[in-house]
Amino acid sequence: MVVTGGGGETGGASSGRARRRGRTLLAVGLVIMLAGLLFGYDQGVISGALDGIQKQFSVGTLLLEVITSWVTLGAMAGALVAGAMADRLGRRKTIVAAAVLFIAGAMVESLAPGAYVLVAGRLLVGFGVGVASVAAPLYASELAPSRVRGRMVSLYQLAITIGIFVAYFADYLLVNGDRWRVMLGVSAIPGVLLVLAILPLPDSPRWYVKTGRHEAARAALERVEPGADTDSELAAIEELDRTEAAGSWREVFAARWRRPLVIGVLLAVLQQLTGINAIIYYADKIFAAAGFSSPSSQSLATLWAVGAVNVVSTFIAVAWVDRFGRRPLLLVGSVGMGLSLVVVGAMFEVLGTARTSGTSATGVVTMIALVTFIASFAFSLGPVVWTIINEIYPSHIRGRAVAVATAANWFAAWLVSQFFLSLVGLITEAGTFWLFAAFCGVTYAFVRRRVPETKGKSLEEVEILWGDPAALRRAIAGPTTG
Ligand code: BGC
Repeated sequence: MVVTGGGGETGGASSGRARRRGRTLLAVGLVIMLAGLLFGYDQGVISGALDGIQKQFSVGTLLLEVITSWVTLGAMAGALVAGAMADRLGRRKTIVAAAVLFIAGAMVESLAPGAYVLVAGRLLVGFGVGVASVAAPLYASELAPSRVRGRMVSLYQLAITIGIFVAYFADYLLVNGDRWRVMLGVSAIPGVLLVLAILPLPDSPRWYVKTGRHEAARAALERVEPGADTDSELAAIEELDRTEAAGSWREVFAARWRRPLVIGVLLAVLQQLTGINAIIYYADKIFAAAGFSSPSSQSLATLWAVGAVNVVSTFIAVAWVDRFGRRPLLLVGSVGMGLSLVVVGAMFEVLGTARTSGTSATGVVTMIALVTFIASFAFSLGPVVWTIINEIYPSHIRGRAVAVATAANWFAAWLVSQFFLSLVGLITEAGTFWLFAAFCGVTYAFVRRRVPETKGKSLEEVEILWGDPAALRRAIAGPTTG
């Protein structure tokens, strides 16, 4: 990486600045990774904790479902208030508040004397995860220079997948007895680390400008990009800030921002309706139905075929999102996901008509198709949807608009995880996977026709797109403009 310093500077000064920049970016990366770990761990851990909870509190199915899924509802509520919080308190303090809520929730969960207190802990944890799921990517996307912005937000997704993997692993190790308390309690650790990581960092320059603190904004820009042209970047942020109306809920839903709002919300919902969390939550059951008969073979298949493949493929996105652009990754990914789901559905159809308890050939094909599905999701809809949601809104409504899209994502996640099993009862496994595949088709068509390429554009340039139909058409038509 080259530091473009002034003519007379010494190599030592320039490398010192590069080091400082490296350190600040690393710290921002750490913040976003810890926020993602919280998200992912909570997404993955509950399936392994349920048995112990059920035994200890002897709860019925309904309460067990509530314990499982109300984290998502808490997260939806957290995401909704996070936008206004991030605009008012700042991105940084909002992240601290999220982590504190999360730590408190994890303690309540692990010490819960009964099921209802446990539910309260789940809601609190969910609330913290929801707030962090809005504030952390927002913070990173506003602080990161545009050349690494996509990569920075993809780090969030990478951390989510690592969190899920670690949770699957904890599930696998700690399945017996009272150890569910440990599984839920240890999630306080990344919460504490998150607070420690963000304390020495500044807030985002865009938020400082919005609240009239121009010198703080300059200092923040200089910390992330020492030696870069801070003056012109600050001027661009200030110019946009002057010409924008104040952010309000009415402004979020104003006609001129309808296009980015619809794009963000639809991508967020489609990310869930294509079935990822049905597979994350119910992988064990899917492998069981496909012929993996022993519980240990099911959880091993889940750990490696779902958990590890998810992590590894997300690395691809982290490396490529700023090189290839968002559109190609989304288009190729949705085709890969759709085709593999068609195969998974067909395998279940074969199982159903043959009325066997599962042959190993069918099991292996199902496993390969699921791996392809997870891999295709992990380099496309997983990270890229979060990247796009965090870069398409004008800065004065960004906090709230990101919150709306994120809450829509949580709501759709809740729908899928709550109703997956009933859907299977209603239209069979094959029908359910084909329905998910149909949503992959919808995603492909929608991205093709409506989603502009944002690679390499500054947030200010992206904002200008929405008022310039010709530029917008070019950004949709060109495969990787920018
Ligand atoms: C989704 C989560 C999902 C995860 C899987 C994220 O992008 O928002 O709902 O569990 O990817 O890796």
